[in-house]
Amino acid sequence: MKQLHTIAQCKQWIEAAKASGQTIGFVPTMGYLHEGHLALVNAAKQENDLVIMSIFVNPTQFGPGEDYEVYPRDENRDLALAKKVGVDVVFTPTVDEMYPKETTIQIVPGAQKNVLCGKSRPTHFDGVLQVILKLFNIVTPTTAYFGMKDAQQLAIIETFMEAFNFSTTIRRVPTIREEDGLAKSSRNVHLTEIERLEAPAIYKALQSGQALFRKTKNTAQTIETVRQQIETHTSGKIDYVELLAYPQLTPIDAHTTEVIIATAVHFAHTRLIDNIILQIEDEEHVSNDDE
Ligand code: PAJ
Repeated sequence: MKQLHTIAQCKQWIEAAKASGQTIGFVPTMGYLHEGHLALVNAAKQENDLVIMSIFVNPTQFGPGEDYEVYPRDENRDLALAKKVGVDVVFTPTVDEMYPKETTIQIVPGAQKNVLCGKSRPTHFDGVLQVILKLFNIVTPTTAYFGMKDAQQLAIIETFMEAFNFSTTIRRVPTIREEDGLAKSSRNVHLTEIERLEAPAIYKALQSGQALFRKTKNTAQTIETVRQQIETHTSGKIDYVELLAYPQLTPIDAHTTEVIIATAVHFAHTRLIDNIILQIEDEEHVSNDDE
């Protein structure tokens, strides 16, 4: 496995790979790899001649007071894991390499950023699109792989790709979970022992919400049930519980075919997100009883 640090090295390697007709699968990450990241690599390996992973904790997607400084990092462990699962190239640029000067241009997503995580992290998705645009211009991947765990990020990236005619195909990869249901996340290491025991209740609450919504199609009641379960079984503070049409991230209406039930919960030292996406069958009728 090759490790490349500079944009120039990376572009050179990509150019050579493409000149020999090889397809490039790309897995962008912020490192501290776990099985969720590795599932993206596995998907990429199945569909491409070569797999490149970026490991870059992108400062522009963290707001003031967020966890940029304490975001978990362990490059040696990441390199060993990436090598083990068969990544061909790891791109590990420095912040100075990616952002040599302050930019005067921003990419701002539309209404999709005004819900879910975007409400409490108002500039987060601007930073995500900024780094994704830069990485895609460097790597020019054939196909790129993103996890459903970050469903809002994925929906916004899909919209970005379509709106600006990117040639890269985006693949959605299902959320990988611990045995007790907790979604794998680099941030799970920041849970206290007690919080780690409580955290699986988040997914259980989402599952109860899913069952209830399937039966009742009642948005408000579903949100209330999910909230109550999280409040009862964890010491976390709920940021949001929302039900929206996916991937539009608009309110559910009669035309909605896919619904996301999503939540974010603050624990003492970290904030966790999770979601479930459910299909609405043709014959089912949905009414939004929120009002
Ligand atoms: P990061 O949180 O490191 O996640 C990298 C990729 O792994 C994302 O596509 C994310 O959705 C996916 N992922 C994380 N946990 C997962 C899980 N449990 N199951 C499946 N996939 C999972 O997301 C980012 O980094 C950054 O915002 C990035 C896109 C790299 C831009 O900086």
